Amino acid sequence: MHTEQLVRSRAKGGGGAQDATAVAHPNIALIKYWGKSDERLFLPRTDSLSMTLDIFPTTTRVRLAPGAGHDTVTLNGRPATGEAERRIVAFLELVRERAGLAHRAVVDTENTVPTGAGLASSASGFAALAVAAAAAYGLGYDATALSRLARRGSGSASRSIFGGFALWHAGRAGGTDQEADLSSYAEPVHAADLDPALVIAVVNAGPKAVSSREAMRRTVDTSPLYEPWAVSSKADLTEMRAALSRGDLEAVGEIAERNALGMHATMLAARPAVRYMSPASLTVLDTVLQLRQDGTPAYVTMDAGPNVKVLCRRTDADRVAAAVRTAAPGGAVHIAGPGEGARLLTGDGR
Ligand code: DP6
Repeated sequence: MHTEQLVRSRAKGGGGAQDATAVAHPNIALIKYWGKSDERLFLPRTDSLSMTLDIFPTTTRVRLAPGAGHDTVTLNGRPATGEAERRIVAFLELVRERAGLAHRAVVDTENTVPTGAGLASSASGFAALAVAAAAAYGLGYDATALSRLARRGSGSASRSIFGGFALWHAGRAGGTDQEADLSSYAEPVHAADLDPALVIAVVNAGPKAVSSREAMRRTVDTSPLYEPWAVSSKADLTEMRAALSRGDLEAVGEIAERNALGMHATMLAARPAVRYMSPASLTVLDTVLQLRQDGTPAYVTMDAGPNVKVLCRRTDADRVAAAVRTAAPGGAVHIAGPGEGARLLTGDGR
């Protein structure tokens, strides 16, 4: 019997916390997830590796509401609507199916990511929701099963279950749904003495032109550069793991930078092109190059938006942040270190 089936049969006896609150942090990928092999199960094409942050937590409370006819979802004190509500309710449906319980839920989420910070709140959001909902519905999942579950809300959320550095296994599409689902989860990766920081440069707080979900679909379907990037990303991951385990920040930064810029190249070659970089992003990229030429190890990574994250040593972070502020004075700059994995704040935690 698989773990999920075991815990489900346990949960059927009842005993969920009914009311549970969890906290989770965003993560930034150093080896990117870009492209799915199964959209319904959220199986990625490639393995990815990230650092969980120690800033911008999301706190989510899930309370079962026996007798209620629908779920009630509140985001930062306002009723969730549209796509955000649809994704959360679909996620709760999955949890209910696994728990063998029909009760609807009341979900309250407080997200501390400043609006438009360009940090995917879906990673911390679905990691916190997975941990709180699994406890409220009594699933009794361990961290690996929680990572698989969080993945079904948003792929990158699978990594926010863990603190520090986390590797998300792509797994294998095909076979039965259960085999495929079990094959893809994140796990912690040890990094020796890096003392890293990520300086987050918010250069543009406007809404995204194209969602990452749509952009990755278009890239996989139409970009002639996608497959070469996916192949090179495999080699990047092998080198990244070696660099992390020997605590080589320069190598970690170089690999992360080329992996991210390569991902953006795949999008530029999509038809039609997806371009997230703005003139202000390029200004920050130039600044980081200059810092490096002046002897400060600093490296960029970017996601599905114009904001730039700069990897450097924590001891250099204030100087890097000051240089970025001077170069792109319009935006906010935040400094993050490695943060903790998602955890339950209340409830019985089983
Ligand atoms: C560029 O996890 O937001 O940040 O699985 O469709 O919800 P869905 O996508 P999402 O994609 C994140 C993409 C990325 C790179 C990364 O975090 O690895």
